Amino acid sequence: MQTIELAVIGGTGLYRLAELEDVQTLQPETRYGMPSGPVRVGLLEGKRVAFLARHGEGHSLPPHRINYRANLAALQGLGANRVLALNTVGGITQRFGPRVLACPDQLIDYTWGRVSTICEEAGTEVIHVDFGEPYTRSLRQATLAAARDAGVELVDGGCYGATQGPRLETRAEIARMRRDGCDLVGMTGMPEAALAREMGLDYACLAIVANWAAGAGPDPDEVITLQDVLDNVAAASAGLPALLRKM
Ligand code: HPA
Repeated sequence: MQTIELAVIGGTGLYRLAELEDVQTLQPETRYGMPSGPVRVGLLEGKRVAFLARHGEGHSLPPHRINYRANLAALQGLGANRVLALNTVGGITQRFGPRVLACPDQLIDYTWGRVSTICEEAGTEVIHVDFGEPYTRSLRQATLAAARDAGVELVDGGCYGATQGPRLETRAEIARMRRDGCDLVGMTGMPEAALAREMGLDYACLAIVANWAAGAGPDPDEVITLQDVLDNVAAASAGLPALLRKM
C-alpha cells in the first residue's frame, strides 16, 4: 500500500481541496461502515494527500450522526498515519475572534450519546488510552511550523470545547464554558480526537473561527447566521492551501 503523507478532514464550509492533483475518488467500506462520503486522494507538492468532508460533500450529516469511526478507519485503511482535522468553531476568549486560525492543545468534551470508542462492540478488548495531551505534539508542531513557513498566522494553543449541536449554544452555556477554560467551541472535535488516539493515529486540530460564540463578542445581542459562518470560513481559509503545501 502506498502511504498517504497526510489526511485532511474538512469541516463546515470546507468540502473540497481544490489544490489536489491527479485525484482518485475512493469509497472505502470499513469495519465500522461507510465514511461520510468519498475520500479524494491526490498529490500536493508531489506528496499523497487524502481529503474527506466530515459532514459529507453536501453537508448532509449533523455532528451527532457522523460515523467518526468509519471516517478515521477509512483514512487509516488507505495508508494514512497523520490526520489534520479542520474544524469550524466559535470563539469564546479574546484571542479567538472571527477569522482567526488556531491549533488548540487541549479539549473538553460536552457531547453525549455518540459512539466514542473502538471498544463499543461486545467481545472487543477494552483499552484505556492516555489522553492527557489530546492532540499529537509532533503533528501540532509540524502544523505550526508549516504555518510559519507559509506566512499564515496560526494561534498556538487554546482549549476546544466540543458541544452536541446541531443547535448553537445559549449565552449561559458559553459563559459556563469560558469558566471551564474553553477558548473555542465546536461540535465535531469529539469523539474524533479520542478515536484517533485509540486507533494509533497522529491527530491535530486546525480550528477556523467563524463567529463569536453566543454572547462572547462585542455585541452581546448578536445573532449568528450561517452566511456569516460561511463567509468567515472562506476568508479565514485563504491561507490553508499554502500551509498544507508546507506540510
Ligand atoms: N458553536 C458551536 N459550533 C460552532 C460555532 C459555535 O458558535 N460556530 C461554528 N461552529
